[in-house]
Amino acid sequence: MRILGIETSCDETAASVVEDGTRLLSNVLASSVSFHRETGGIIPEIAAREQVRAIIPVINEALGEAAKTTSTYSKNTPSWEWGKKYLDAVAVTVGGPGLIGSLLVGVEVAKTLSWVWNKPLIPSVHMLAHLYAVWLSEPPYPHFPSIVLTVSGGHTDLLLMRGHGDFEFIGSTRDDTAGEAFDKIARYLGLSFPGGPAIEKIAQNVKSDTISLPRPLMTSGDFDFSFSGLKTAVLKVAKSSKSKAEIASSFQKAVVDVLVHKTLLSAKKFKAKSIVLAGGVAANQALRKQLREMSKIPVFIPPINLCTDNGAFIASYAFFNFNSRPWNKVKAEPDTSLAIGKYAKS
Ligand code: KG4
Ligand code: ZN
Repeated sequence: MRILGIETSCDETAASVVEDGTRLLSNVLASSVSFHRETGGIIPEIAAREQVRAIIPVINEALGEAAKTTSTYSKNTPSWEWGKKYLDAVAVTVGGPGLIGSLLVGVEVAKTLSWVWNKPLIPSVHMLAHLYAVWLSEPPYPHFPSIVLTVSGGHTDLLLMRGHGDFEFIGSTRDDTAGEAFDKIARYLGLSFPGGPAIEKIAQNVKSDTISLPRPLMTSGDFDFSFSGLKTAVLKVAKSSKSKAEIASSFQKAVVDVLVHKTLLSAKKFKAKSIVLAGGVAANQALRKQLREMSKIPVFIPPINLCTDNGAFIASYAFFNFNSRPWNKVKAEPDTSLAIGKYAKS
């Protein structure tokens, strides 16, 4: 089954064709990050306008590239015709979470394609879809039950995954997400946006224990997170004589310690057979390394290029959670709580 996945929840315009949830036929991405770099954060209106500009060329390219990987390719068949003929469904991020202006662009285009091509339309929940990036690598795939940590700009959640479509929230951030904390600290230190990669870069080769920082909620006994207090602690230290690199490295270590500790604790409690790490912050090498080193059960982490937003994990999620809806019943829903209930597999 070939599914076109469309992702426009934030500043990336992404489209991908995935076969049977695991084989990537194409993965195309345009980003408005250069505009947001100037302001040190995302301006929703600019992100939405750039989505409108990019969406058709990005989908067109994703279809064209996918066609070339198959035996159905003919240079006389335009990519739109190929899509109409050889795709089985269209999937799109409807929310959970996302910026409304950006989401609307992908959702309305996906609805139009579903209508004119007469194909099933599968609404995808962004934060759940992130974890399907691990199904886009070579097998083996995670055994269930699995503990999933999704860490991104829009979410920091721990989930118990008993199977495809069978998710239970077990913890979440009470304030900022881990990605937001990286972005805000980076801005404070005068580093570029997005903050995660910038912090990781200057933290390299610098000791992470030179500044003592709190590990919020580490011993709270539940699976929730909190990063706003850590942010305040870092801002206080930033006024001292410590170097930017030392601050970045100690901050990164504090975040990684808390994320890894709570993930391992939850895996033990729920007798998980595997751990999945997903979301933009999963690109962080220190986090990947520490989780792998400290876990006694197999850890699955997507390749770095599939950690941040893309259309491929949307298509893969759609394959494993096939829950098509009539196009006129699907709408953009920026609500962060949209996750399990409404669009769960039926
Ligand atoms: O998943 P994503 O692309 O978008 C959302 O769904 O939010 O994640 C973006 C977030 C940003 O906050 C960015 O700073 C963070 O992921 N990020 C990283 C790294 N790469 C991206 N954080 C830490 N280390 C990285 N290498
Ligand atoms: Zn994301």
